[in-house]
Order: sequence, then structure tokens, then C-alpha cells
Amino acid sequence: MQPPKSGNITWHAGAVTRAAREAARGHRGATLWLTGLSGSGKSTLTVAVEQALLARGCVAYVLDGDNVRYGLNRDLGFSPEERRENIRRIGEVAKLFTDAGVLVLCAFISPYREDRDAVRKSLSPGDFIEVYVKASLEACESRDPKGLYRKARAGGIADMTGIGSPYEPPEKPELVVDTELHTPAESLARVLNFLEKTGYIQHRT
Ligand code: ADX
Repeated sequence: MQPPKSGNITWHAGAVTRAAREAARGHRGATLWLTGLSGSGKSTLTVAVEQALLARGCVAYVLDGDNVRYGLNRDLGFSPEERRENIRRIGEVAKLFTDAGVLVLCAFISPYREDRDAVRKSLSPGDFIEVYVKASLEACESRDPKGLYRKARAGGIADMTGIGSPYEPPEKPELVVDTELHTPAESLARVLNFLEKTGYIQHRT
């Protein structure tokens, strides 16, 4: 990790600990990092998970690739360096939310293993849950909800992930959700079951 550019800065600890925040909420904070091709179903899944968690009284919040690029990362494009910076900034935001005791649901292609691993490393062990939202390029292309693959095939997007730019699937994700095999309801259940089984949220009574 690069040291801060500014000198003369001192970390200031708050009076409320993360443990106290989590105890008040009844669940722990964590970053669920969904990675996969465009059109694999990341955004759809995070939206469903957020809704389900809120219905259980948990505090959850979605950070989504397209949305974040409207604001925080509006200065970034899709070169490897810019994608790296995109993921680095999101990682920092997710870390803050996690410390705040929130279940952060991140939906980013995040195509490079090294960039995802850097986020994992920057968080405490157990705070980063990698979810591989698996779908073949063929399936994503046939879904093509935003028409981007068609545009890319026609030569309109040179660095489209899966076509002109690589995607490196995770080697050891905590969870795989295959959206070609599972329905949206099954995919949602897989995530919730995982969170319950591993103690991130409590079993529904
Ligand atoms: S990432 O590669 O840097 O992680 P991110 O998740 O933020 O990507 O943004 C991906 C979204 O941007 C896609 O869902 C798609 O809607 C849009 N997009 C625009 N151009 C591209 C491109 N060249 N490759 C992939 N996605 C793109």
C-alpha cells in the first residue's frame, strides 16, 4: 500500500468501537464482493440481497459499478490502470462501510485477480467475502441487457471485458453463484444461506 502523500497527519480513533456498533445492530459488518462479467447478474443479485437483508433488520448497502462511475469514479475509464484505481477506491469505501458495521454489497466486474486480492488484503481476515457470479461469455452475450456486447462486436467498444479485455475468474472464492444454473431466487438463497451458516447474520427464527 502506498503511504499517504500528505505529511503531518495523525490517525484519530473514535470513541465508538466497531464491536459496539455491531452489537447495537445485531450483526457484523462485512464486504461481499461480487465479481463476474457484465451481464452475469451481479447487480440483480445485490439488489435482491440488500432487500432481503433489510427485511431481516440488517443494515446493507449496494455499491454498483455503473452507479459509482457516475460520481466518485467519474474520472475513470476502462484501461487496466483505471480499472485498478476504480477497484482500489471502491475497496477503501467498502472498508469504511465495513468498519461502520454495514454489510456492503459490491457489484463490480473487477476483472483482475490482483486488484481483488489487494482489496481482500486491505480488509481484516473474514471481512472480505468473494462471490463469483458465474456465467459464460456466451450467456452474458445472449442476455446483453445494455446492448454493450453487440456494440463491442460491431467495433464500438474496444476494451469490453470478455472481448477486447480479459476477465480473470477467482481461484478460491468464498462462494460461487452460477446464474446459468440457478434462478434468481436460488441465487439469493445461496447468498443468505452462506451468510447464516458462517455467522455473518443470524438464523431466521
Ligand atoms: S470494472 O472492470 O472497472 O470493475 P465496473 O464494474 O466498474 O468495471 O463497470 C462495469 C460496467 O460498465 C458494466 O456493467 C457496463 O455497464 C459498463 N461498461 C462500459 N464500458 C465497459 C467496458 N469496456 N468493459 C466492461 N464494462 C463496461
